[in-house]
Amino acid sequence: MASIRERTYIMVKPDGVQRGLVGEIISRFEKRGFKLIAAKLASPPKEQLEKHYADLSSKPFFPGLIKYMLSGPVFALVFEGLDAVKTGRVMLGATNPLQSAAGTIRGDYALAVGRNICHGSDTVENAEKEIALWFPEGIVQYSLLQESMIF
Ligand code: PPS
Repeated sequence: MASIRERTYIMVKPDGVQRGLVGEIISRFEKRGFKLIAAKLASPPKEQLEKHYADLSSKPFFPGLIKYMLSGPVFALVFEGLDAVKTGRVMLGATNPLQSAAGTIRGDYALAVGRNICHGSDTVENAEKEIALWFPEGIVQYSLLQESMIF
């Protein structure tokens, strides 16, 4: 069932941080109507990235993906709102920027799948796992007046 409390994990990858796109990505999600509930710059250890991408460990691109993710800090974000996971993926655009529509984050700012700016959870279940992995300290709870105006 749709929930206005659905959460998604969005991560600006090292190329997005280096190119100064953190503010732009936060802004797009906030303007769309999502509530920013957690954010931090992080330089995760290799083990954490291997855990995050564990499902891809047998893929030929896995070593290159980990190397890329270790090339600089990432910016970890959690957004909350109606259909946050699915809408977040639509806002990011197709994984391969060759197929990303203009108007999406990757469609506007990326050229190659190996430098595709940002990650977004693909299911609610994975979002919960990723949020627990990246924010083990927990998330501050707060209410916004606008929440009462959504429906
Ligand atoms: S797959 O093969 O269908 O399971 O992969 P896909 O769902 O398309 O992508 C999963 C994540 O792997 C990243 N990816 C790559 N990174 C580096 N190089 C190459 N060639 C590559 N291919 C896929 C892709 O960006 C996805 O990462 P996230 O962070 O989830 O967007």
